[in-house]
Formats: sequence, structure tokens, C-alpha cells
Amino acid sequence: MPSGTQRECVNFAPMLAGFQNLTFEFGARTIVADATWHIQPGERIGLIGYNGTGKSTLLKVLTGEYRPSAGSVERSRGTTIGYLHQDLLSFDIHDSILGVALGAFQEIHDLEAEIEALGKELERTGDEQTLIAYTDKLHELETKGGYNIHHRTEEVLQGLGFPPTGLNRPYAEFSGGWRMRVLLAKMILQKPDLLLLDEPTNHLDLPSIEWLEKYLSNYEGAVVIVSHDKYFLNRMVTKIVELYQQELHIYTGNYDFYEKEKAIRIDLQKKAFENQQDYIRQQERIADRFRAKASKAAMAQSILKKLDKLERIEDANMERPNIRINFRVDKVPGKVLVELNGLSKSYSELTILKNAKAEIERGDKIALIGANGKGKTTLLRIIAGIESYEGERRWGHNVEDSFYAQHQLEALNLQHTILEEMQDCGSQMTDLELRALLGCFLFSGDDTDKRIRVLSGGEKARLALAKVIVSKANFLLLDEPTNHLDMHSCDLLIEALNKYEGTMILVSHDRYFVSKTANKIWEIVEGEIKEFKGGYEEWVQWKQRMAKPESSSNKSKTKSAPAPAQEKKPTLQQSPSANAPIDKEKKKELQRVEKEFQQAELRLSELTTQKNKLEADLANPDFYSDKIKFQTIEKSYQEVSRAWEVANREYERVFERMMNAGTS
Ligand SMILES: Nc1ncnc2c1ncn2[C@@H]1O[C@H](COP(=O)(O)OP(=O)(O)OP(=O)(O)O)[C@@H](O)[C@H]1O
Ligand SMILES: [Mg+2]
Repeated sequence: MPSGTQRECVNFAPMLAGFQNLTFEFGARTIVADATWHIQPGERIGLIGYNGTGKSTLLKVLTGEYRPSAGSVERSRGTTIGYLHQDLLSFDIHDSILGVALGAFQEIHDLEAEIEALGKELERTGDEQTLIAYTDKLHELETKGGYNIHHRTEEVLQGLGFPPTGLNRPYAEFSGGWRMRVLLAKMILQKPDLLLLDEPTNHLDLPSIEWLEKYLSNYEGAVVIVSHDKYFLNRMVTKIVELYQQELHIYTGNYDFYEKEKAIRIDLQKKAFENQQDYIRQQERIADRFRAKASKAAMAQSILKKLDKLERIEDANMERPNIRINFRVDKVPGKVLVELNGLSKSYSELTILKNAKAEIERGDKIALIGANGKGKTTLLRIIAGIESYEGERRWGHNVEDSFYAQHQLEALNLQHTILEEMQDCGSQMTDLELRALLGCFLFSGDDTDKRIRVLSGGEKARLALAKVIVSKANFLLLDEPTNHLDMHSCDLLIEALNKYEGTMILVSHDRYFVSKTANKIWEIVEGEIKEFKGGYEEWVQWKQRMAKPESSSNKSKTKSAPAPAQEKKPTLQQSPSANAPIDKEKKKELQRVEKEFQQAELRLSELTTQKNKLEADLANPDFYSDKIKFQTIEKSYQEVSRAWEVANREYERVFERMMNAGTS
């Protein structure tokens, strides 16, 4: 065991589930060796590690889906586990969303089936024993709340923003963010003692992530979250378990704590490694010298044997190799790549675009942002020509596009091997060249013969990116390209996109990624495409300026709500198919806060006027030549300024509440 590594010692606190000296292997590849990890009730744990290290695999071992090669998986009696799979989109469920969520009540369904069978038997035989069994089961069904499972399920789904009329729509029709909510609803209904969430924020927009944070903060059970989202982990967990070099390293703090502590451990490991290397070299020198003398040969042998048995400390510098992404462009396109005119698109009663207009010019790096269900992916697909629409979409000269799909399964054939998938791109590269390219994406040697179906989330993402690169396109359309990528790979992608000479449009909920890559921001607002010519940070500042009343004038008297309302309002309450009905209580609360907001706005505006007037007075020579008058004005100015500060804080607080009332 390398120094600086801490394994959790056996303790006597109650344990929900865990591993004892567990080893897990896929054929010759060890995922984890001799690991011990105990999960206690109520714990908040972040499970982290590079792509492909085996985090999802560990969760599957915990749930019992995979069996360990050695050691044991432990679970205290009666512990229930809820597991949110990373690969939501691969579930090919034809059930309605109501049906999927109702799956939470397997026990009740089994009971109902038994009752039905008993009922049939009773009809046939009229036997008294069957009658007793039948009434017993009916009673059991009642005590287990079996009669209101439909009601409870509908309530939770509606709470998550699904309109009552849409509950029978097939699960497969929904986008990632909404599918995730259906599965979350199912888990909420199950109320397990231990929740295992594999990259839950991947498909979620900001309001949904905030909702999930709130939900998890109040959750009574233990939670294990696999995530590459630093910010989310910092807010949600108090313990980090890192899967690194086939061992579990436990850190009792949040992500920031982990980063600091890890730096210290790496330092210690480096020193220990260097010391051990010095020792090995010294022993080898001695053995070499002894070997020359016949009388000492046995001693040399024994030294070498001892060295063989020595448990080697891994070099902390041996971080994994980097992926090397280098997008290339074959041809230069015309000045305008895409022109959209009078573009309209709707899904039954939901309007996505209405007579929208926009243009993509050479060199644009556009980020298309906004809430789930606003139609970002749809717009991207329309631009790529793989979605129907009304209106005009004009394509410029020499444009060669490549589309990186959010639904990776749309793009990857699960039955293919990695190499076959690359051969299928029509790139005319030889196998040797393809293997070299795959090597840049960390798929070496035998890896290229792996079937796509067994790849980890991050590996699939890397492969899909490799496919994009092979095309040498001058126009990239990227839908959520950082989903599944670990932080390190994400930084390398940013670097590559910054060097990319072509044009691109991307959809992402990752604020850091957008701020590092985009030079224009697009938002879909009321069916139109709104363009902001600037990067993400400028856009945020602009939004904030639009949100605040201008303190130097009394424009704040205007009744219209601040601009971010448009950004924040598409909330969980917004349904995928229609404006979801906000229930009465929430509506009332919203009205109350809106009223308070208007009052706060009015107060701030009055104080702003007073403050401005006093400021003007202070600058007036008539006043500042009169000492007494000046002092009186100055005193009033200070009082009004203080009152203005208070009113401004109040205004911001109420504004925040109003936004929350709209989102919660
Ligand atoms: N059934 C399988 N057979 C063989 N290898 C597999 C199988 N399932 C997964 N693997 C491999 O095991 C490794 C770990 O996969 P896993 O999905 O657990 O990684 P992960 O840490 O969750 O990665 P990510 O961050 O990308 O989601 C990967 O290299 C993957 O290709
Ligand atoms: Mg995974």
C-alpha cells in the first residue's frame, strides 16, 4: 500500500452496505484490489476517479449486479438500495412514464398478481381456504398502501413538472433531462436507505440541478454520488472516495478538502517512492558486487529475492497519459455557413421555434444555452439537417459538418468494436492510422477490439469525439460534449476547441466549459433565437445589468420583471409538452412574493430618487458654500444612502425568493 493512502478501518458504527477486502476483475483487468469500504446510514459520499477507472462498475457490485472475484459485498439486513444508472438513454423502455414510475412498487404488483390468481381460483372452486387466503392478501394490500399507489405516483411526477395529461406518454419520447426525472420519481417513491446516483447531473439543466440539490439535502437515507462536477460535489458531499490505481482512497471532507489533502498525499507518496527507489538501487548495487565473488553469491541471491518480494510504491508522477485531441479542418467554407429564416418547429402543442431567424458566420463559436425542454437539441438537429422543420435553412459553400450527438447511442453501434466503429465513418484512413488516432484517445492495443456495449460513459464519449475528429469537418455541432468526461479530459477538450480553426455551435449546461469556449451566446426565447455577441461571462454581466434597476435614474419604476426571469423561469414546473400547471399553493405563494417584489421595487426606486437629488445638492456650489446647510444635506445623504443599501438588499432577497417560488 503506498504511503499516504488511508483505508477505512473496520469500525463498529452501524453499516448499511459496503465491501470487505473486495477484488473485482474484468478478465485480466483489475478494477479494484482488496478494497474495504463501509457506508454508514445518512452518509453523503462522492465517488470519484478518472473515466474508465471503474466507478459505475463498483456501484453495480454494490447492487449485486456484478459478483466480486474475491472478498465480500456486505449489506445489513433489510437495507434497500436505489440505483440511478449512468446510461439513462440506453434503456429501451416502451412503457409510459407513469408505468416506469409505478415500477417502484414491485412488491405491490406481485401482491396484486397473487390476488388476481386467487380470485380466479376462488371463482372456479369456491373453496374456503382460498377465500381466507384471498381476504388475507386483500388486507395486506390495504395495509401496504396498495390502493393509492397511482395517486402517489401521479403526485410525485406532477411535483417534478410533468402535466397530468402527459403521464401516459411513452418514456422513450422524452429527452435525457426528463427521463432522468422519471427515474428519480421512481426512486423517490421507493425511499431506499441507500441512493446510488451515477452522474446524475449529466442531463440536467441548472434549475433541475438546483432542485436535485434541494431534494438530496433533505433526503434521510445515505447517498453515494458519482460525479465529475466539482461544484455539485462540494455542495452535496461530506466524504470523498476516490478510485485510483485500483484502490479506494477515502477523504473525510468535500471536494475542496479532497483536492488539498490529495496534494499532500501525492507529495508524501512521491517522497516515499523516491526513498524506496534509492533503497532498491543501493541493494542492487550491493547484490551486483556480491555476485562477482563465489563465496557471496548466495547472499546476492537472497538480497534480490527480498527485493522481489518488496511491495512497490507506485510513482505518484505516473498520472494517466493525456488524451490528445486535435481537430483539423480540410476546406475553408464561405463567410456564412448557415442561414435560418422563418424557421418554425413544434411538437404537438409545444412550440419550439416560431418564425425564428439567425445566421452562423465563419469563426463563430456559439453556445446554445437554456433550460431542458427549450429545444436546444432540436435546433441543433435542424441545423444538421436531421430533423424536420418549416421555413428555410440555407447552407453555405464548402460547409462540411460533423455532429456529436447527446444521445450517444444514436451515433454509436453497441455491437461494434471500437475499431469497427471507426472503420464505419468513411474516413478512408487505414486501420493502422485509425489505431494511431485511437491511441490519442487512450484506446491502445487490445482496447480497440472491445465492444462498445461494455465501454464506460467517458470511454463512449471519447470514442464519439474521435469520430468527430476523423471527419476533418469545418463546422462542428456538439451536443453536451462534456457529459461523462472527467475534469481533466474536459480541460483538454477546451484546449482543442480553442485551437480549432473551424466554426462550431454547441449545447452545454456546463458553465465553466461554455465560458472557456464560446464567443457568441444563443438562447431560445419565446420561439425566437436571441443572439448575444460576446462570451458567457459578458452575457451573465449583461443579464445582471438588465435585472437590476438603474440606480442613477428612476427607471426602476418600470413594472416589468427583471430580465433574468426569462433565464430562470423555465423551471422544473415547465412541462415537456405544455406549460405545466403550477399547483394552487405554489401559485398563491408566487403571487404573494410578486406583490412583495413590487413593493420592494417601489421603495428602492423612491430612495434612488431621493439619493440622486441629494447627490445633486451636494454637488451644487450654492449649498457647499453654506457650511450648515451642507452638513444637513450630507447627514441626510448618509441616512438615505444607508436606507438605500438596506432596500437594495431587500430587493435582491425578494427577487431571489420570487425566482425560487417560480422554480421550487
Ligand atoms: N462487461 C464488461 N466487460 C469488460 N470490460 C468492461 C465491462 N464493463 C466495463 N468494462 C470496462 O471496465 C472499465 C471500467 O468501467 P466503468 O464503466 O466502471 O468506468 P467508470 O469509472 O464509471 O467511467 P466513467 O467515468 O467513464 O463513467 C472500463 O474500461 C470499461 O471499458
Ligand atoms: Mg461510469
